[in-house]
Amino acid sequence: MSSQVQPEKIGVKELRKMVAEKRAIVAVTAYDALMARMADEAGVDLILVGDSLGMTMLGYKTTIPVTMRDILHHTSAVVRGVTRAMVVADMPFMTYHTSQEDAMRNAAVFLQEGGADAVKLEGGQAVSQTVERLVVAGVPVLGHIGILPQSVLSEGGYHVQGRTPEGALKLLADARAIQDAGAFGIVLEGLPGTLSVEISEELEIPTIGIGAGPGCDGQIQVLHDILGLFEDFVPKHTKRYAELATDIRQAVAHYRSDVCDGVFPGEEQTFK
Ligand code: KIV
Repeated sequence: MSSQVQPEKIGVKELRKMVAEKRAIVAVTAYDALMARMADEAGVDLILVGDSLGMTMLGYKTTIPVTMRDILHHTSAVVRGVTRAMVVADMPFMTYHTSQEDAMRNAAVFLQEGGADAVKLEGGQAVSQTVERLVVAGVPVLGHIGILPQSVLSEGGYHVQGRTPEGALKLLADARAIQDAGAFGIVLEGLPGTLSVEISEELEIPTIGIGAGPGCDGQIQVLHDILGLFEDFVPKHTKRYAELATDIRQAVAHYRSDVCDGVFPGEEQTFK
């Protein structure tokens, strides 16, 4: 697969073309304009304003407390930082389950007020009719199956899915249902690599994996994980490409000691 960055704004058509040309889709989460701009400049194709912002930005233990207002606020910021990547807003817990009308109204807020290019929602067959309504109304939808972080309370944790034959069959059926409903792509989270290959071969829409092995059409990671900013736990599926939390602590401690020792501000930082 080529790592060359294509210059055009990424939309649904470009993602399809990338898959047809066997170019990997590279996706990360971002929650603010500066980080989104850096990810965009680095050539990332898709930026998800994930409800993982509950943990990475807001200090919650799970994604459950994240609200429409939170995602809207951060989506607007990300959109201001991005010129090329597709921006996907994550629909928070219980904002697409109460009724299809609520799902439509809430998705519209992210597109109209937030400026997002698409929305993501969790679930397979159970949400496929909602996905279909959204798609018919013109909302590009990214599906998400496998580990569903919004089900952490009912599942009692985050468990790899599809390890049993019945589990694998259910995920295949979920993936088909989301594709048939018209989603432009699907996130596969926390499933055996062999099953991701099977699903990716079966589906025509792009699969974007997180903890789903190398056999997907693309990969997504939480930016704060790969940058070494989020230290509460390190998921097995992540790889740290930097140790920014350590760097930040060191830089701030250095600044502190300079101020305490009277070294900062110096001549250079003083107006004449
Ligand atoms: O919220 C999020 O960051 C996500 C990714 C894990 C796909 O849904």
